[in-house]
Amino acid sequence: MSKVTVVGAGNVGATAANVIAIREVADEVVMIDIKEGVSEGKAMDMMQTANLLDMNTKISGVTNDYEATANSDVVVITSGIPRKPGMTREELIGVNAGIVKQVTESVLKHSPNAVIVCVSNPMDTMTYLIHKVSGLPKNRIIGMGGALDSSRFKYYLSKALGANPNEVEGFVIGGHGDTTMIPMRRYATLRGIPCETLLDKETMDKVVADTMVGGATLTKLLGTSAWYAPGAATAEVVEAVIHDQDAIIPCSALLDGEYGEKDLCIGVPCVLGKGGIKKIIEIDLNEEEKELFAKSAAAVHKTNEALPC
Ligand code: LAC
Repeated sequence: MSKVTVVGAGNVGATAANVIAIREVADEVVMIDIKEGVSEGKAMDMMQTANLLDMNTKISGVTNDYEATANSDVVVITSGIPRKPGMTREELIGVNAGIVKQVTESVLKHSPNAVIVCVSNPMDTMTYLIHKVSGLPKNRIIGMGGALDSSRFKYYLSKALGANPNEVEGFVIGGHGDTTMIPMRRYATLRGIPCETLLDKETMDKVVADTMVGGATLTKLLGTSAWYAPGAATAEVVEAVIHDQDAIIPCSALLDGEYGEKDLCIGVPCVLGKGGIKKIIEIDLNEEEKELFAKSAAAVHKTNEALPC
């Protein structure tokens, strides 16, 4: 029996829970929220799709009752406030740090062996905070951002190429921020064909720029943070862990010398499977990419300094 808890049943949390359930990633999904009735209602609504979708996952929702989350294999933390149009993810740190700290302590009381997937923003800093608060082995804490940013990169690449998004490969490393993420244009391919040989520089520059502000573009359109791709990206990470897929997904991982960085959570390609991050893949960066990574790391370090603990 596999069990996943999603803390925070807002747009992103509920979408993640729904995708996890529909794909039958786990046998059981529990949503927990501080707002009375929200988790319960969304869980009931989802369960009413079971017969429509031939879905066998058991979904439940609770208000503040961490007992119900006991013995989860994976706990997803989406708690906190989302950004509003014009805000950066970094501006959320003051409110969200306190919430994420408290949630981490509560989930670990009941699921001491869980892998934790951090979604709350500013995502790299919240992932780092979870490390500091929990003292868990570093492989057991995964920041979801790179999975989402890579999916957005592939979306913009597919549009520029006029190609099926499923034929596109690409990934994003660095921080999950409008100015810190690094879409890896040199490694992007259309079924193995380097995208840089198919798109001119100007088009590729635009793909990269659009990817970097992908979240902000949606926040402006929606009036709040996006949820379909963030939820699905979260489910992708959870699936890799629960099904021990050895999937290579860019995630925020605690670095200890990799990429020349220490004491920092930032997006790098990770092998995900049972137990969380099985391996960090150190790809060759050229001088320009190294410089971008160092700049991104410095920015995330700076945001971490604003943590209250
Ligand atoms: C986004 C938020 C979830 O990028 O960070 O949409």
